[in-house]
Amino acid sequence: MPSQLSLRVIYLCMEFAEHNVRSRVGADEGVHAMKVPKAFPVFSGWEGFSLLASVPSTRNVLRRGYMSEQGTLDLTPVESILAEFADQRGAVIPILQRVQDIYGWLPPEAMRLISKRRRVPITKLYGVATFYAQFYLTPRGRHRIRVCDGTACHIKGAPQIIEALTQELGIQPGETTPDGAVTFEVVYCLGSCGLAPVAYVDQQVMGRLNPEEAVAVARKLREE
Ligand code: FES
Repeated sequence: MPSQLSLRVIYLCMEFAEHNVRSRVGADEGVHAMKVPKAFPVFSGWEGFSLLASVPSTRNVLRRGYMSEQGTLDLTPVESILAEFADQRGAVIPILQRVQDIYGWLPPEAMRLISKRRRVPITKLYGVATFYAQFYLTPRGRHRIRVCDGTACHIKGAPQIIEALTQELGIQPGETTPDGAVTFEVVYCLGSCGLAPVAYVDQQVMGRLNPEEAVAVARKLREE
């Protein structure tokens, strides 16, 4: 399954294939658009972007109860959100935010439906989703550990914490454990430099953290 990072790389490669592919759409859209490079005809059209569309759904979606026994994603919430924004132009970002609130990420099935209903090329939709760090194109874990590696935290030992968690969880930053328990991320300044090194475990701040404490927290989260 492509990671969030690899999806970003794919997007950047597409950008590289044709210079100046991004251009500002009308201010009312509030998004960046992307011309589809000729080198990537497979990505054009409403149902295109087959590489990204092949990202498998995971237990994260199952956990949230939107997956049928047959493995089909329930798109009813997306239909409701689209109906809510039916009369609003340039509402792509709020729609994506709402959809992500529901599923915890942006499943390809939902992206295709949004593209179709809003008549926004799927490439443009993925262009928006990859442009903003707030959007996730891969499933998230039940818990989220974000370790700060900003300057203050880096000096105070964040690299050791990151290394310890990488070893403990068996994944790289930006990835989710195979059991769907933890998504591990490295961020740069959480605004709590006085407590460095800092991590956020879900919504809870953990200051003056050390590698042993971080590992203990990660173990506990996986057992929940
Ligand atoms: S540098 Fe880590 S919270 Fe600011």
